[in-house]
Order: sequence, then C-alpha cells, then structure tokens
Amino acid sequence: RKAGLAPPQVAARKSGAPLVCLTAYTTPMARLADAHCDIVLVGDSLGMVLHGLPTTLGVTLEMMILHGKAVRRGLERALMVVDMPFGTYEEGPEQAFRNAARLMAETGCAAVKLEGGEAMAPTIRFLCARGIPVMAHVGLTPQAVNSLGGYHVQGRGADGERVRRDAAAVAEAGAFSVVLEKVPEPLARRITGEIAVPTIGIGASSACDGQILVIDDMLGMFTAFRPKFVKRYAELGAAAEAAIAAYADDVRARRFPAGEHVFSQAGDGGAA
Ligand code: KIV
Ligand code: NA
Repeated sequence: RKAGLAPPQVAARKSGAPLVCLTAYTTPMARLADAHCDIVLVGDSLGMVLHGLPTTLGVTLEMMILHGKAVRRGLERALMVVDMPFGTYEEGPEQAFRNAARLMAETGCAAVKLEGGEAMAPTIRFLCARGIPVMAHVGLTPQAVNSLGGYHVQGRGADGERVRRDAAAVAEAGAFSVVLEKVPEPLARRITGEIAVPTIGIGASSACDGQILVIDDMLGMFTAFRPKFVKRYAELGAAAEAAIAAYADDVRARRFPAGEHVFSQAGDGGAA
C-alpha cells in the first residue's frame, strides 16, 4: 500500500495551504517527518550528507533503494518520493522506466523525482503513461554541477526564459509537481503562476506552492557548508559534538559508567 497523499491530491493543492516537504534517509527521521510533512523525499543529497561524497554524482540506485526501504518503514501518511540518481534515467525513457520501476517496486515509494527540463520531458511523459508519477526538478539541478559550472543561482536575467521553458515542459509532460531550486523570487512567482501543478521551492522564495529542505541542513547536522536558502531550526550537530566530548571526558575520568549503569553479581532486582 502507498501511504498518504496520492499525486492527484498534491495537484489539487495548487492554490491551497503550502505543501510541506522534507528529505529523510532513515526510519527514525522518516517517522519524525511523517507526523508533520505532506511529502517526504529520499533525496540523492544523501550522498553528500550521509556518505561524505563531494557531489551527488556518485550516488547509485542501490543506495537509493537501501535508504528508500528504511524511509518506507517510517512512513504512514506522507507521500514518499525517491530521487533517481545520476546515470539511471538520462539515456532514454526505457532506461528511466526500468530503474524507476525498481525504485517503486523495491522501496514502496509512490513517485520518483528526476532532474532536468525540456530534455527530460519525453521521459517524464513515458513514465507517467506507464504508472510512475514523476516529480520534476528544474533551476539548479545538482547532478548537472559539472555542466552548470557550480551551484550558482539559475535563471537570472535572460536565462530566466530557459528555466520557464523547462518548468512548462515538465509540467506539460505530466509531472505532478516541480521542484524549483535556487532561482530568483520574481521568476519563481512567474513560473508558479504559469504552470498547472504545484511548485516546490528550495531557495526559490515563498511564492512557490510548497517548500522543501534537506533535513540534515535544517537540523544543523550537515555543516560542511551553509547555503543562503537554509534556515537552521536546530543545532543538532553542535549538540552531538558536545555530547560526544562529554562522554569522552567521562570515560577518561572513570566517571562513566557509574553505579546506576552497572550490574551486580547476585542480581539484586535493580539490574535487568
Ligand atoms: O536531493 C535532494 O535532497 C533534493 C531536494 C533538496 C530537492 O533533490
Ligand atoms: Na536530489
């Protein structure tokens, strides 16, 4: 059974309350996100935030399946979307279908996400016609970092037309929502007004129909760099660092383990 909001219900949210989306990569985080989010994305950002890769280019289908299965176990209501990693869909619609079908069958996700605009429209159309709902992703597409020459804002000035055409093409091809990453606010507002399906912004202003963040970014757990568009709602990385330092001090000073953590020889009832 697919948990939660079906893609048609997402489309119906176009002018309603903003769609709340977060990434998750593990069962416990999925459980926490499930209670508050409409959509949980198993993003290929996991390559960088969990596996220490320098970009998302080294992420494999097997990694997405492993984390996708873990996330599925933590969800009861949110719509689950899994990213298609670099190299698993760009060759053509058949390759994309084969790999998207594996993601859906093996993880139990309700939809897949793939990066790209006009060039990916035929692939999106092919998947949508064959039972695979697709979330699109345009603007800054991190898998294209080597072509884009970095992680710069996309769609400034005359380049805005390209991003508009990309968003229109993927929406027209049947994508049920479109992630807009790192584009100027006026462009995000214009695209949101122009396409029929919800836009989900990341670094794309509150003009979008929904928002998404990488969970490790907003929790302050991934601190290698800090994009301007991230708001830190917690400093869990700093809290973890302090806890680990306190543990190390306690062990070195023989303060841990203390009496309450220790088992007696006789079994006095206090210890399990
Ligand atoms: O991989 C990811 O986490 C993403 C979202 C940030 C949109 O693609
Ligand atoms: Na991604």
